[in-house]
Amino acid sequence: MAECLGVFVRVFKTVAGLRCYLELQQSGDGRESNDRTPGVGLGLVPTMGALHAGHLSLIQRARQENAIVVVSIFVNPLQFAPTEDFQQYPRTLNQDQHLCEQAGVDVLFVPTMAELGIASAPASAMPLTQVVPLASMMSVLCGNSRPGHFQGVATIVTKLLHLVQPNRAYFGQKDAQQVAIIQRLVTDLNVPVEIVPCRIVREPSGLALSSRNQYLTPDQKIQAVALFAGLQQAEQAFRQGERSQEGLVAIVQREVAGTPDLQLEYVELVHPRSLLPLARIDEAGLLAVAARLGTTRLIDNVILRCRQPIVAIDGPAGAGKSTVTRLVAEALGLLHLDTGAMYRAVTWLVLQAGIPLNDVVAIAELVSQCQIELSSQDHPARAGAAQPTVMINGQDVTEAIRSQDVTAQVSAIAAQAVVRRELVKQQQSYGCRGGIVAEGRDIGTQVFPDAELKIFLTASVQERGRRRQQDLKDQGKPEISLDDLEQTIYERDRKDSTRALSPLRQAEDAIEIQSDRLSITQVVEQIVNLYHSKLL
Ligand code: PAJ
Repeated sequence: MAECLGVFVRVFKTVAGLRCYLELQQSGDGRESNDRTPGVGLGLVPTMGALHAGHLSLIQRARQENAIVVVSIFVNPLQFAPTEDFQQYPRTLNQDQHLCEQAGVDVLFVPTMAELGIASAPASAMPLTQVVPLASMMSVLCGNSRPGHFQGVATIVTKLLHLVQPNRAYFGQKDAQQVAIIQRLVTDLNVPVEIVPCRIVREPSGLALSSRNQYLTPDQKIQAVALFAGLQQAEQAFRQGERSQEGLVAIVQREVAGTPDLQLEYVELVHPRSLLPLARIDEAGLLAVAARLGTTRLIDNVILRCRQPIVAIDGPAGAGKSTVTRLVAEALGLLHLDTGAMYRAVTWLVLQAGIPLNDVVAIAELVSQCQIELSSQDHPARAGAAQPTVMINGQDVTEAIRSQDVTAQVSAIAAQAVVRRELVKQQQSYGCRGGIVAEGRDIGTQVFPDAELKIFLTASVQERGRRRQQDLKDQGKPEISLDDLEQTIYERDRKDSTRALSPLRQAEDAIEIQSDRLSITQVVEQIVNLYHSKLL
């Protein structure tokens, strides 16, 4: 299988080997042929091995987003209490290596304890500088029953981040407290890495996958489903308006109580980022549960958000995304988050300030301080055009951003990584409020990975060629042969899917709409119907 992919996973047990390999790769000297991989950069997936589909979902995501993927396997003694299962923890290296090969992983880092400077002494007696997360983040949820655990996690993750120096590191939302603590750690300590949280992978029964599920008997696996069932019932109540901590917690407690073998450790409602306890949910809440089944400890959680839904529409150029997005937003009464208009607004600002387009530093300063506002009300000057009003730093630029100057320069501005980074931040802050429809190449994968409805709108190259030819005809422009148009579209698709900055990608949970035989009205109708059936 590994040979089919043409990629062999390199296994390193030493830091020296790993660093040497990565430095060679990044300098380009040792580059192995691996042109399957779009994007640039290095992605790290830290694990303790015994890999299952949950881990593999992180690896797949990292594979999609990075040129090099490193998976680490290290059963970290620092995060186990003396009473816990450090000795028994499943170790299945051969199988893990095989799975990594199948998943196209480049590097498997399997250090020994000595290699990481960790002695096999009890964590408390170890002469080792440790990273101590915020007390307020460790005094809730699993922190109470696992003293020292998150300090052990924070210490090992910090070591791995320093050793591997990834651009992105992937963590599962299954361990929601771990994700929040690591996110806070990299923010507070200015670690130059993007932490990418990934959704929970479950068995068809709803049981969240875990390496520790191996300890469960078939009967226990059935009983364990009560945890997710409780969370689902709470989610249902939340959708019907239940916002209080007591109400939501009681629902989970009641469901778990129906399975006497499940010994509930906690059910708590906290803020998903700060982990501070919540009395009620005003914006978002993390409802988390832990229980013991025999000797096995299980955890699970859901995030409950008050915000209105987000609809993310991605797809190749020429598939009709922008018209569809505008019409869907109109039909659903949501804001069309016109990301193109945001790039235009920044371009206008740069031109206005007289900054040369190649002065990336000045542009970085300008864009990081600007404030763009979009509103769904039609601009009076563009009545009927159904375009949102665009303001930048308090100034109405709805008209100005359509000028020829802006049109001529916008792609040069949009190609700058810093502009994209800053605008994605602003787009995501719209996401916190919800109630938006946005289109692009990576809206559902990167910008709003937790969008409630993700659409991948596509059409065959031939169909897009025909549509383009019709557009040119309608605009009275000279005709281009179908062959030439198809070639251009094909090339554009290839570039868009392999470009370094925001490559085109279909989210795993996106619904694909192939629009070859559909009219725009039919596509819009399908999306509106999906929205209603999925969200109400
Ligand atoms: P481990 O339990 O092996 O998990 C490795 C990563 O896989 C974690 O980010 C975890 O949240 C994720 N994961 C596990 N089960 C998952 C599921 N069902 N769905 C989605 N993601 C899942 O977590 C650790 O190791 C360690 O604490 C570590 C971060 C490696 C530090 O030692």
